[in-house]
Amino acid sequence: MVAIILDGKKLAQEIQKELSLKVKGLKEKGVTPGVAVIRVGEDPSSLIYIRNKKKKAEEVGIHFEEHTLKENTPQDELVELIERLNSNSRIQGIVLQLPLPSHLDEKKILERISPDKDVDGFHPLNMGRLLKGVSSFVPATPKGIIELLDRYQIPLEGKRAVVVGRSDIVGKPLALLLLARDATVTICHSKTKDLGSITKEGDILVVAIGKPEFVKEGMVKGGSVVIDVGINRIGNKIVGDVDFEKVRGKASYITPVPGGVGPMTIIMLLSNVIKAAENIKSEIRNPKLETNPNV
Ligand code: GUN
Repeated sequence: MVAIILDGKKLAQEIQKELSLKVKGLKEKGVTPGVAVIRVGEDPSSLIYIRNKKKKAEEVGIHFEEHTLKENTPQDELVELIERLNSNSRIQGIVLQLPLPSHLDEKKILERISPDKDVDGFHPLNMGRLLKGVSSFVPATPKGIIELLDRYQIPLEGKRAVVVGRSDIVGKPLALLLLARDATVTICHSKTKDLGSITKEGDILVVAIGKPEFVKEGMVKGGSVVIDVGINRIGNKIVGDVDFEKVRGKASYITPVPGGVGPMTIIMLLSNVIKAAENIKSEIRNPKLETNPNV
């Protein structure tokens, strides 16, 4: 068997067209979606991610602002900027690019972003809503993975899904989304014993551990769906967490790196910005819905 490639790049281009139409519709109603990205310091990966976000945002017609702070910025200065953006009506989405320099308390700072503008879905309120199955901003990478599976019509109900990695950004929210879709979910991590025997049980195997080409064909079930979230630089080559060439001979579907999950992530972030702008639009239309019985 040779796996079908899950072409995230092509799919992201299709979704980008849909988002451009939505933005056009919003602009006609007087709302221009806007996102502000905050960067503290000069993390090289962050510079690349932000450049890509800016390019895509502008292509779909979203107003994009980058706020750059020095590496040694004190916490209260960063919080002040977040508060200003929380009350800035041009901005519906705030992204605090991670990682932050080590003197800053990431968890505390993320709590200062208004949950209504938390398009990354990292605020505890939005993570709690996800846990409870209430509508919320879903973090972009897991949201992109579910979208990729859905658009390729890969069934999830009743399937054994194995997620390798337990980060707040990918592993934990993805496990919840798969559970909500009636998959039977196992989460593995760096302390899991006999990892290969568990990954081999996955009808759907998602790997997000940041170890280049770690998953070999012996760790994968024949005919499974393999989703590779890794982006690892080896010299000037980018590889995933899965040994693509070997595993593609055993799986039924597989994401390439690059061109799989990565392009879906950016487009899903923009989808969340548009969702935030749509929420504002409905408030403008029904400003007194809560208090005026005549509306
Ligand atoms: N750093 C790595 N991935 C992400 C992400 O999805 N959002 C933010 N804000 N920072 C990141």
